[in-house]
Amino acid sequence: MLGIYIHIPFCERKCNYCAFSSFVNIEKEQDRYISSLLQEIEDFTFDNYEFNNELAKLGKTKTQTYDVDTIYIGGGTPSLLNLDILAKILNKIKEKFNVIQNSEITIECNPNSLTLEKALGYKSLGINRVSLGIQSLDDEELKFIGRLHNSSQALEAIDIVKETGIKNISCDLIIGLQNQTPEKFKQQLETLIKKDIKHISTYMLQIEDGTPLAKFVSHNADYLPSEDENVLIYKENASFLENNGFKRYEVSNFAKIGYESRHNFKYWTGENYIGFGLGAHSYIDGIRYANASNFEDYYNRKLALKEILSKEELIEEHLMLGLRCACGVDIKYLEKLGKDIENNENFKYLLKKNIIFKMGNKFFLEPNYYEVNNYVIVKLMA
Ligand SMILES: C[S@@+](CC[C@H](N)C(=O)[O-])C[C@H]1O[C@@H](n2cnc3c(N)ncnc32)[C@H](O)[C@@H]1O
Ligand code: SF4
Repeated sequence: MLGIYIHIPFCERKCNYCAFSSFVNIEKEQDRYISSLLQEIEDFTFDNYEFNNELAKLGKTKTQTYDVDTIYIGGGTPSLLNLDILAKILNKIKEKFNVIQNSEITIECNPNSLTLEKALGYKSLGINRVSLGIQSLDDEELKFIGRLHNSSQALEAIDIVKETGIKNISCDLIIGLQNQTPEKFKQQLETLIKKDIKHISTYMLQIEDGTPLAKFVSHNADYLPSEDENVLIYKENASFLENNGFKRYEVSNFAKIGYESRHNFKYWTGENYIGFGLGAHSYIDGIRYANASNFEDYYNRKLALKEILSKEELIEEHLMLGLRCACGVDIKYLEKLGKDIENNENFKYLLKKNIIFKMGNKFFLEPNYYEVNNYVIVKLMA
């Protein structure tokens, strides 16, 4: 079944660490953008997409299904949208695709732009998962990264979503901010656990080129915790979450059983997904596409990327995705692509050292080694 991603590229203020495709002060652009987005959804047809013949070896045929079971509205800041616009987008998807019952429908929200009225509206539109950009529960840290909310607004946003009856709430936190220690980070997690949050994503702060944060760090090298300190925060808190009933099902993602993101699983298991909107990525039948990330090119339907994955790239991608999450790597799939992994010396070594483990026709990375998944992939590609 398909997953659909919708990109909303508007923000109230640009956070100083963010390099995502999102823009401020472009209210004038919104009407044109939304009508182009609706048109893009309406015009979608598999006839415009090719089939990567490497997939034929895996017994796959060209996708024709319009059945959808996950929708993810991300950004940018989708919670800036009025409900009627959101309704138009979701209705357009439902006109075009067959959105099955019990689909997972997620919206990303920034705590400062979420109101009870909006959250109730989300529920009435069938949205059943809210991902909150909490980032930190320390006011100084939030200020430092240029967020518009403080910690009490973050906690209020959680209460607002809970009031609607939506139980599937995810909170994003960033590891690597200035005040952090394993103990302080644990206190933040404890607060979220007490609020009965079902899903927590902990992202390592990436210093993205060209951002104000990158400039700051180049002059203040010791202001933020070191890489080793961050790894310690990550490891201690991964154990803390695991001891509190969360399963680490991907490097950065922790969930109570049954609350793993079904949409994200599509990215990691090579299922087809279609991205609509500025800079949105799609993966259809072994070919990766990215929409243009400037408005004019997007309106003219110019692609920024079209990449037909070679046999080696399909193997590498399957290893890369399968090893960073609990979905694992399918040995038979690799075999069909011509990779006899079980006779690979490095595979045998990693198995012997309990860095990977085998179950049926799949093998998995031991979660304690998630952060060295790149090393394991390089070894297995050799
Ligand atoms: C692109 S944002 C969109 C969600 C929403 N606008 C927000 O910021 O709360 C999705 C998530 O990516 C993470 N993120 C963005 N830039 C990052 C960076 N440079 N390093 C680590 N995480 C980042 C943040 O945790 C954020 O919640
Ligand atoms: S609110 Fe989210 S998308 Fe917007 S600038 Fe900040 S991190 Fe980026």
